[in-house]
Amino acid sequence: MKRNKLVLVSLLIAVAFAASVTIASAAPIVIKFSHVVAENTPKGQMANKFAELVDRDLSGKVKVEVFPNSQLFGDNKVLEAMILGDVQLAAPSLSKFKKYTKSLQIFDLPFLFKDMAAVEKFQKGPVGQKLLMATKKKGLIGLGYLHNGLKQLSASKPLRVPGDAKGKKFRIMSSDVLAAQFKAVGAMPLKKPFSEVFTLLQTKAIDGQENSWSNIYSKKFYEVQPYITESNHGVLDYFVITSAEFWMGLPDDIRTVLKKDLDEAIAFGNKVAAEKAIGDRQKIIDSKRSTIIELTPAERQQWVDAMKPVWKQFEDQIGKEYIEAAVAANK
Ligand code: SIN
Repeated sequence: MKRNKLVLVSLLIAVAFAASVTIASAAPIVIKFSHVVAENTPKGQMANKFAELVDRDLSGKVKVEVFPNSQLFGDNKVLEAMILGDVQLAAPSLSKFKKYTKSLQIFDLPFLFKDMAAVEKFQKGPVGQKLLMATKKKGLIGLGYLHNGLKQLSASKPLRVPGDAKGKKFRIMSSDVLAAQFKAVGAMPLKKPFSEVFTLLQTKAIDGQENSWSNIYSKKFYEVQPYITESNHGVLDYFVITSAEFWMGLPDDIRTVLKKDLDEAIAFGNKVAAEKAIGDRQKIIDSKRSTIIELTPAERQQWVDAMKPVWKQFEDQIGKEYIEAAVAANK
């Protein structure tokens, strides 16, 4: 009898030990973070910083794997892959959500924000915060905004006034607002993935494109575009996004730490963005590969006058009150 008891106790200890070993060695939650830009960009740096912070705070429990340069998915596939559970985190440009919501089109309206401080103010305000949930019905939730910067126009010929863009082909992101913006100056917009832009420019299949200083520099567009007009006509920012199913399925304590680390990584990425908007512009000037065209106020006004009617065209889809809130952020 005594012997049986001893056997039973040893058995229970062995089972408990085996269970604890299983728990201790349980595979960590893997977060695949897919993006399309180089590592030396605001988004590339933010993603790497997030992986580093999660490794510090949740080592053994969560592992972040970062895939830059469209290695895993391009922006036109990443959101579908996220819904299917093949990727957990991404930060596509706000211009790439047309299939999921019309509201985010607000960020593409030309000459809406006067600077990045206004963009930040709008995103932090009630409308910006509400927009984080704009894709929820489609199974995706915005966890935050990340800056890149204001967009410039690069081209094979100098662009000083809207007439200079007439008849020229420009690569754009997959946004109807951006298409309307280029049509407004008589140009031909072509929706193409980011990964194809350099080759399209190099082979002269297109005449120009619009992007931030950081993307023009890191993807070497300036080496194949002799002119860059400093137009600051729009914003290139990102929606840091995850699948609602994945995010809500995480244990509460893990989700809380991940959100804290993400906020810290975004703040870091925004700092990098502000520095790169100045530093990468200067590196392009120093390279002497591309001439930067600074517009006079009168020339700039011509671009504003030509492009601004696009606002009215998309007012119903975006919401008049949202546009008014964005305009108010400039004050
Ligand atoms: C990005 O910065 O993520 C890409 C922007 C673009 O497609 O031009």
